[in-house]
Amino acid sequence: MNTQDQIEKFKQIKYELTRFMMIYKFALEEIETKIDILKQEFQMLHDYSPIEHTKSRIKSPESIMNKMLRKNSELSLDAIKSSIKDIAGLRITCSFISDIYQVSAMLQKQDDLKVLGVKDYIKNPKPNGYQSLHLLVEVPVFLSDCQEHVCVEVQIRTIAMDFWASLEHKIFYKYSQAVPEHLTRELKNAADKAYELDLQMERLHREIKEIKDAQGDDSDAELRQIMINNQQFNLPASFIKLLGE
Ligand code: GTP
Ligand code: MG
Repeated sequence: MNTQDQIEKFKQIKYELTRFMMIYKFALEEIETKIDILKQEFQMLHDYSPIEHTKSRIKSPESIMNKMLRKNSELSLDAIKSSIKDIAGLRITCSFISDIYQVSAMLQKQDDLKVLGVKDYIKNPKPNGYQSLHLLVEVPVFLSDCQEHVCVEVQIRTIAMDFWASLEHKIFYKYSQAVPEHLTRELKNAADKAYELDLQMERLHREIKEIKDAQGDDSDAELRQIMINNQQFNLPASFIKLLGE
């Protein structure tokens, strides 16, 4: 092949790869919007959100290639699409364990999402202590000339689970030898403590909520205002009267 042909070929590959990766970015944005809507809905209606924050990432072409080599798979875009399910990844950090299942149920109920798989590492933690709820979902992405079904891996966890997983990853990632037994034990012990903390915080949350609900301490002024899009609206007495009839 002469140099001009090589340049053309390279440009073509670059175009195809950009298109391939771009679709995962769009799929992530769609799910992020869904999560943001749920978060805002809860905040506006209940003054509470089960979602602390989200973080998304796209797997790099280098990691994709390494994974394909590890799996001994052929290197084509179709093969990558069907064998690597975590090219697009979204991590949702929730306040409490019950919030994780609530967010998961709300996502699973959405008609345009197809749930391909659920792995519950909270009910069944990994031997090292790892906990999280993993959903594999397929999202439709509409482009100018076609519709693509794109797979996104959603990991839902509490702040404590995220703390443990982030540090475990930092400490042990790329440590290829067998981890000494006492370290494995300590790691599992730390995960158990994180879980205890989750249970304790959830108990506190529930008890305080019960007390607050019983007190019903909203002021008259608060009851007559709503906040939408960071704008405060006062409710005219006549409007409240009309709606109440
Ligand atoms: P991968 O091929 O690694 O993507 O895993 P898998 O297809 O076997 O799926 P699994 O549900 O076990 O893990 C998917 C993802 O969950 C990983 O890429 C990590 O982000 C996270 N994960 C799973 N196990 C652990 C763990 O032991 N420690 C940490 N820190 N993260 C984990
Ligand atoms: Mg992965």
